[in-house]
Amino acid sequence: MPQDKFYITTPIYYVNDVPHIGHAYTTIAADVVARYKRLEGYEVFFLTGTDEHGQKVQQAANDLNLSPQEHTNKLHQRFKELWVRLNISNSDFIRTTEERHKKLVRNILQELHSKGEIYQDSYEGWYCTPCERFWTEKDLAQGNCPECQRKVEKIKEHNYFFRMGKYQEWLIDRIKNDPHFILPASRRNEVLGFLDKPLEDLCISRPRSRLPWGIPLPFDEEYVTYVWFDALINYISIHGSLEEIKASGFWPADHNMVGKDILTTHAVYWSTMLKAIGLEPPKNIFAHGWWTVNGQKMSKSLQNVVEPNQLIEQFGVDAIRYFLLREVPFGLDGDFSHKALIGRLNSDLANNLGNLLNRTVNMMKKYCGGTIPTPATAGPEDEPLTTKAEEVIAEVRKLYGELAYNKILQKIWELVDTTNQYIDKTGPWNLAKTDEGKERLKTVMYNSAESLRVLGVLLNPFMPTSTESLMKQLGAETSIEDQGMISINEWGGLKPGSQTQKAKQLFPRIEDKQAKKILDELSEPKEDNKDSQITIDEFMKVELKTGKILEAEKVKKSKKLIQLKVDIGTETRQILAGIAGSYEPEDLVGRTVIIVANLKPAKLMGIESQGMVLAAGNDGKILLAGFDQEPGQGIQVR
Ligand code: MSP
Repeated sequence: MPQDKFYITTPIYYVNDVPHIGHAYTTIAADVVARYKRLEGYEVFFLTGTDEHGQKVQQAANDLNLSPQEHTNKLHQRFKELWVRLNISNSDFIRTTEERHKKLVRNILQELHSKGEIYQDSYEGWYCTPCERFWTEKDLAQGNCPECQRKVEKIKEHNYFFRMGKYQEWLIDRIKNDPHFILPASRRNEVLGFLDKPLEDLCISRPRSRLPWGIPLPFDEEYVTYVWFDALINYISIHGSLEEIKASGFWPADHNMVGKDILTTHAVYWSTMLKAIGLEPPKNIFAHGWWTVNGQKMSKSLQNVVEPNQLIEQFGVDAIRYFLLREVPFGLDGDFSHKALIGRLNSDLANNLGNLLNRTVNMMKKYCGGTIPTPATAGPEDEPLTTKAEEVIAEVRKLYGELAYNKILQKIWELVDTTNQYIDKTGPWNLAKTDEGKERLKTVMYNSAESLRVLGVLLNPFMPTSTESLMKQLGAETSIEDQGMISINEWGGLKPGSQTQKAKQLFPRIEDKQAKKILDELSEPKEDNKDSQITIDEFMKVELKTGKILEAEKVKKSKKLIQLKVDIGTETRQILAGIAGSYEPEDLVGRTVIIVANLKPAKLMGIESQGMVLAAGNDGKILLAGFDQEPGQGIQVR
């Protein structure tokens, strides 16, 4: 029997952006569905790629003295490499500068032009270079681009237009008649609101003299295609010519997954373009929300861009995949914080799931010699577990239809909790004490392991690596991919007699000390961060002076502190310094140091410190700040 086909896409990312968690979010979300559908037995096509034409790319390449093509050849690798690291299972990777893509774009343009769907007209408007979009006077926000608030320039030129406006009624009907077409519902209403106003035709060209880096129009080589008209076609150019697309069985796509900022371009431009070409719009366009970081928009100037590569090193791939989809309902905005990530990793992954696997595999070794036992028929105590599993599996299948990732994970965790409770209630450690108990123990151990196998299959799309490791520990002979969702339709897929492996921690806990270190490093002020800069006046408030150490002795019961008497010209100060690990008191006497003279006195180990000595270093070696010549005492340091 031929397999049912399933097609899912991510937006194609601007090639000169540095990949961040926002990009990773869409791609991971699409990957989870692609993996799930494969487990359900579908032939899945999962597409991602890079958007490589346009003014910004051209400018960046010019700045580097590279051709735009050379530049994008390098840059797109950053996305490809990140997707490999994040275990993204895309079927192909489309670049808009590839021949296969350019060919279809030009063919479509030619066809639409021949059919009269594209015409030439003069055009005057306000152009925003960073957004590569024209705006009308009334669109502007205080004279600036309404989207990025930057300056716009007035441009008058001849251009080509796609007759988008004529599809307005058709599009409104399409959206109203199919509640699944644009999701979530709130975004669907926004699109309908946008369509309340007359829909204008779409300017789909740019003069080549102004913007050479684009796909030339086949019917007028003096112009290149507008980036969005070019980029949107990526979703079909991957499948070949229009005939091949129709024959591929992969169009219409099941999901075009996008961020909320690019919903209009998809719901309106893309759907009407497809209509004009004679293809169906995608079955669903889903607009997810945006991530902020500690309440702020991610931006290079704020230096708060969260880099997935760094997160992978700190927390592991699966923890990140889990966190991004568990923390916030898909469709709503969310705020990223390392603290929340550590919290979820420790509680959900290490404590709940990780521990469940660990205790089960360890008990299997202890009570069953590491062999999956044959269970007896289910009794009343087993039923809540098997019933819960059935309920969770059915609900998860349903929730995938809504892309409700956080609910899917919540639901799966109900089974994690029920299994932990099942073990606590049945108490294998007590059963092991009597002969009768030992018989029952086999069923309890089997059920616990089987529940974990079900969890492994359900969680595999989210955490592909950890769940395969889980499966191996349980002694399963085939991979989750081979087992598929079908293997959990009925309880009992785990084969009695298989050998479990040594228990291995799936998710190491981030201990408090390590967590503190990670969080402290993150909150360190960054060099260019405007908020952490001080004025010269503020700096001048700190009174720095030279002083000569007259006396030095170790503070009793302290490993670090040395008590100093320092002559600062006008007076002698008693100062405590945490330098005992690096200096002996006798080496210090006679040295000239720099002290903060107007620091509020503070007591350390019951001794008053009337200032602070400047030194460089951290917990390891500490070096006192000093001078290459003797400056004398009480001299101001600036
Ligand atoms: N190249 C266009 C898309 C063309 S699709 C035919 C583009 N690229 S982008 O790189 O700017 O954005 C790609 C995706 O990343 C968008 O879906 C966008 O919503 C998403 N995100 C970018 N920053 C984001 C967050 N901070 N949070 C979540 N997603 C965000 O637009």
